[in-house]
Amino acid sequence: MIIRIFILILSAAVIASCDNSVQQRPSPETNIQLSASPNSQAQPEYSELYRPQFHFTPKAMWMNDPNGMVYYDGVYHLFFQQNPTESTWGDIHWGHAVSKDLVHWEQQPPALTPDNLGLIFSGSAVVDANNTSGFGADGKIPLVALYTSHSMEKEQQGATDVENQSLAFSLDNGVTWTKYQNNPVLKNPGTRDFRDPKVSWYEPAKKWIAVLAVGDHVEFYSSPNLKDWTKESEFGKTSGSHGGVWECPDLVELDSNGQKKWVLFVSINPGAPNGGSATQYFVGDFDGKNFQTSETETKWIDYGTDNYAGVTWSNTANRRIFLGWMSNWNYARDVPTSPWRSAMTVPRELSLKMVGSKYFVAAEPVAEMGKLSVNPSVLENLKVAGGYHLSEKVDNSSGRFRLKFTVPQIADWSIILSNSVGEQIIVGYDQASNNYYLDRSKSGKTDFENSFARAAIKAPRIAAQNSMKVDLLVDSASLELFADDGLTALTGIFFPTQTLRSIEIKSSSEIVIPKLEFSHVESIWKK
Ligand code: FRU
Repeated sequence: MIIRIFILILSAAVIASCDNSVQQRPSPETNIQLSASPNSQAQPEYSELYRPQFHFTPKAMWMNDPNGMVYYDGVYHLFFQQNPTESTWGDIHWGHAVSKDLVHWEQQPPALTPDNLGLIFSGSAVVDANNTSGFGADGKIPLVALYTSHSMEKEQQGATDVENQSLAFSLDNGVTWTKYQNNPVLKNPGTRDFRDPKVSWYEPAKKWIAVLAVGDHVEFYSSPNLKDWTKESEFGKTSGSHGGVWECPDLVELDSNGQKKWVLFVSINPGAPNGGSATQYFVGDFDGKNFQTSETETKWIDYGTDNYAGVTWSNTANRRIFLGWMSNWNYARDVPTSPWRSAMTVPRELSLKMVGSKYFVAAEPVAEMGKLSVNPSVLENLKVAGGYHLSEKVDNSSGRFRLKFTVPQIADWSIILSNSVGEQIIVGYDQASNNYYLDRSKSGKTDFENSFARAAIKAPRIAAQNSMKVDLLVDSASLELFADDGLTALTGIFFPTQTLRSIEIKSSSEIVIPKLEFSHVESIWKK
């Protein structure tokens, strides 16, 4: 243990002194503290204070990015950046969880453990149905993962070739994984940041495409067999947001009324619209070699503070299902949860929509989430002027709910969630600025990081129609707003010391909500 702590202190010190490192990593004090809390041992699993009840969280210890998301043989696999022994970043493995319905998850033993090439950083997995890799055996189809091997040793030596891409495969439907003996397969070309490969099959040229984050841009590589990679092109040095390093890209094709476009997602930290980490996207064209876009504005898949490193599942036929890490590098290591740290967002279905002459990607909770919504209440012609106390009409004793309604005009409104000790969350729309917003300044425990309690987190309204559709998902420690059929998404986490049972809807002008649907959201962990 003492040796372990010493190594953590040493690596934290080295990381802190290295400008180019992945992101600001924890201070050694934080490393040692939380995972050892004796209280955490006493709590029954998944029922601790702040434990999300319908979002995936690891039972214990640290988690960041979703990785290797692949659907195969009726099972959704979710791998994730995991530290299996501490509740802060370090010693990164690929953790693993599986689900048959995208809603209920079962955590599995770690799938990939660090080796002499380094830690197991982010990456992706595909179903190699034609056995292009040759990893298949006895007629078994291989699942193949391409991930970044990140050498802490080289990082500490100040080397450039810290990050290389490696392969692993599974012949038992993702249960166990074998690393390829000739790793790494895609060697560092001489650049410090070279990571997070996302692989997909490009049917027109019958080849694999990998998109990687390379500092201030992405690079596209192609391969016939997942082992031999050829650089095709670069994109992004002069496009999009550049407030920080680019990470975790994804390239997907989406269809808007028969018009197919390619969407490139790129996470960035820092440089997000509300500070710290977020995911931007570009809508354009891809020909198997180059990605091009004529867009000039920067678009974000979620304007909130807590949706990072999101990518899509592979092998889901025509569905594009996206999931992000529900945190922010500004404070991920400091959030007051124990014995685990971090949750994922709910899985979101992506669609491409046109607003005026521009394409936007909309993100909405997958339909499967609907099965958790129980005890629905429907209120009709609800008059809101001043305040309407919704929680007097519906049962919100759990504090977990889904609320859907349409505001039939453009007007200010807000929803205030509060508890008896005066803690509150406000989510709403401000007509003057045309922004949705989230105010978590009085949301309970906020003092673990300076910027956390900052007032309004803003998300521009993108839709153009004269009514506003609201879909709000609230869990024990998070809120996800999907406005206007997901054209604007805003995700934020918070830590009230007591359940936020009171729900009040307010508006400055008189509005009449034709139909409001409220339902309790069941826990995915209940036995
Ligand atoms: C994004 C990221 C990735 C990297 C991983 C390391 O949050 O920095 O770029 O692979 O986390 O845990």
